[in-house]
Amino acid sequence: MYILAIESSCDDTSAAVLRDGILLSNVTASQAVHEEYGGVVPELASRAHQQNIVPVVSAAIKRAGIMKEDLGAVAFTRGPGLLGSLLVGVSFAKGFARSLGIPMIDVNHLQGHVLAHFIRESEDDHDQPTFPYLCLLVSGGNSQILQVNSYKDMEILGQTIDDAAGEAIDKCSKVMGLGYPGGPVIDKLARQGNPEAFEFSKPDIAGYDYSFSGLKTSFLYHLRDWVKEDPDFIEHHKEDLAASLEKTIVDILMKKLRRAVKDTGIRQVAVAGGVSANTGLRNAFLDHAKRYHWKIFIPKFSYTTDNAAMIGITGYFKYLDKDFASIDLPAYARMEKI
Ligand code: KG4
Repeated sequence: MYILAIESSCDDTSAAVLRDGILLSNVTASQAVHEEYGGVVPELASRAHQQNIVPVVSAAIKRAGIMKEDLGAVAFTRGPGLLGSLLVGVSFAKGFARSLGIPMIDVNHLQGHVLAHFIRESEDDHDQPTFPYLCLLVSGGNSQILQVNSYKDMEILGQTIDDAAGEAIDKCSKVMGLGYPGGPVIDKLARQGNPEAFEFSKPDIAGYDYSFSGLKTSFLYHLRDWVKEDPDFIEHHKEDLAASLEKTIVDILMKKLRRAVKDTGIRQVAVAGGVSANTGLRNAFLDHAKRYHWKIFIPKFSYTTDNAAMIGITGYFKYLDKDFASIDLPAYARMEKI
């Protein structure tokens, strides 16, 4: 059984094809148009999705080596995300499924990130978590610790009360004049810097919740003072600034995660979302696996940022449950519950 999956929640147009839960193709068109604006411009994103969706879907079907008539279902991201972007994918999926007379499966984008660890590229790929496992979901819009009890039962143990980790990285990078998105640039610079060079404020929040807005402000104020004394301060210290910022964020994320592992006794720990591409965070996971005997799950780089493969595997689970969407289902910009 072949499933076509479509993801268009933000600024990546992506399509994937799976056969019985095994990934055959995953094609993504990213949108460079936003770089000069320092962030995603919603109207430009939806226009770019309109241009990209047909070629991306065609390429995914072609790379899978099948014909569109072979497809048995179409899975698509229903939300959360930018409404104009979502509408392109949702409308396309509806038209495509209708024309082929096959069922549609709506997928929650965040659920897709959490289940990215179940993407299998071959029959022999058996490195998947078993339920329950903990998942640190860190992206531009989310920072959550989830207890994943089954593919459809996910309990939020903690989450950010203000900015997401990726948002904090992007904003600090913008203040340093490094452009958008900041994550990959900060990551690269951090590899050449001293993580102990500067100290930024860490939040003191109860339970498993996170907060990153204080760090962002502390970074901004420190920088403002240093630049007053030395106008070239950022240029002279950008590696150390990036390394110290990255270390602060990773320390904040791992501290709460350690607490959640200790309290739940669950030692299978996964990381997902765009920020899981970060080298410092990946190294912290490897270190915790060794030190605390965690069984860790780190996604391949191509499955960290938005991709249709994760929508496809989530759609496959729902397909097995015969959990289909009706044709009048709307896209949702906000979807709190996974
Ligand atoms: O999951 P994602 O692609 O979508 C959104 O939530 O929008 O995550 C994007 C976020 C951005 O904040 C980006 O800066 C961050 O992931 N990111 C990284 C890295 N690669 C992407 N953050 C740190 N290090 C990276 N290597």
